Parts: sequence; structure tokens; C-alpha cells
Amino acid sequence: MKLEAFIFDLDGVITDTAEYHFLAWQALANDMGITFTREDNELLKGISRMESLEKILEIGERSSDFSEAEKEALASKKNDHYLTLITKISPSDILPGIKELLTAIKANGLKLGLASASKNAFTVMDSLELKDDFDVIVDAKTITNGKPDPEVFLTAAKLLGVSPANCIGVEDAVAGVEAIKSAGMYAVAIGAGESFPLADVVYSETGELSFAKIKGLFEKEKGI
Ligand code: BG6
Ligand code: MG
Repeated sequence: MKLEAFIFDLDGVITDTAEYHFLAWQALANDMGITFTREDNELLKGISRMESLEKILEIGERSSDFSEAEKEALASKKNDHYLTLITKISPSDILPGIKELLTAIKANGLKLGLASASKNAFTVMDSLELKDDFDVIVDAKTITNGKPDPEVFLTAAKLLGVSPANCIGVEDAVAGVEAIKSAGMYAVAIGAGESFPLADVVYSETGELSFAKIKGLFEKEKGI
């Protein structure tokens, strides 16, 4: 057993697109007369576009008001808005500490994977100019079961040719941490400690991430 790879979530970990997802969903909810708060949004992190819409309709008690075609149109409207919000994303939008962590991972000969629930993952990675730094990118278009199912993380590990037990997953979503743990990986969470009882270690922000510290904690846990 030895550390072989890091597998990152994208939205809210590598860049703050989690905020743009929130703003776009909130605008759609407002249009429908539904109050949608930042607190409500925590439940949407890491889950697919259609599941997010279903949760918003549940919050507004409007779950049975729309046909499937109407729901598709609402999800598309949110996505169009989201796409306008991310047009100006550039490498300067990479969150603090991430570039340094990615560099240390590569310098230590480890593999790098992305496991995102977003269908826009390639677009965002392209704008951040990070696509070529990753050995594999798995997004919502590639998998059948979204987070908290472990499929996206297991697929990334398989494509990297590494054992899940030798991987560290990094997430900002409760559903994402659940997916990492179900995949049998070590989980690093970004956010409020009390939100992530399943995580192996929690940092309140990406600026606190340190390759040496995380590797040390992983090795201690595994008794290496
Ligand atoms: C996840 C985000 O990464 O992707 C969610 O955490 C988002 O907030 C989901 O809804 C789906 O994204 P997209 O870009 O496919 O609508
Ligand atoms: Mg996320």
C-alpha cells in the first residue's frame, strides 16, 4: 500500500464555480417564486443538474407542477445562465493553494485525476488552463450514477490504473465525500468541519491544503 494518486472534485475545490452554480439556481428559483438560500444550496453541491432542479422544486413544493419537458427547459435555462457567468473564468480563478498542491503531487510522481458531477467540467478546466495537468478527467457525461455513488471516483482510479485504497479524494460536497468513502479512498473535505463527519480530514479553505501534511495523515492512517 502506498499513495499513488489524488482525485479532485472541480466545482468549489479547484475554482469557485460552486458560487456560480448557486447564483444561477437562485435566479431560476426567484423566477419561479421559490425562496432558495445559500443553506439550501449546500444540499445541491456535488449532485447532478436534474437532481438539483428536483430539490429546488421540492423546497418550493412545486414538484408535481412541471412535465419532464418543462423540467428539461428549466434546467437548460439555468445552464445557459451558468455558462454566461463562467465566460470570464481564467487561470487567475484557481482557488488559493490548489496550483501549489497540484505541482507538489506531480513533482512527487503521483497521478492526478478529476472526478466531476458537472457536464461543463471540460469547459471549466480548459478556461483554467488545467486540462493538460490532469492524467484523467471524468465528468458527468462519462458516468451513469452520480455522487454519492462512488462511480465517478472509481472510474477515475481505474483509468489512472491505481487501486482506490491508494487514492486521496478532495471534495467540498457532502455527497462527494460520501462517494469518496464508498469508493474506499481517503477523503479530504473543504468546508465546515461539522458538515463532514465521514471525511478523514477537513480544511476550512483550500489555502490550508498542504501536500506534505495530507500525505503524512494518509500514511499515518494506513500505518505506512
Ligand atoms: C457539480 C456541482 O460539480 O456539478 C453542482 O457541485 C452542479 O452544483 C453539478 O449542479 C452539475 O453541473 P452541470 O454543470 O452539469 O450543470
Ligand atoms: Mg464540488
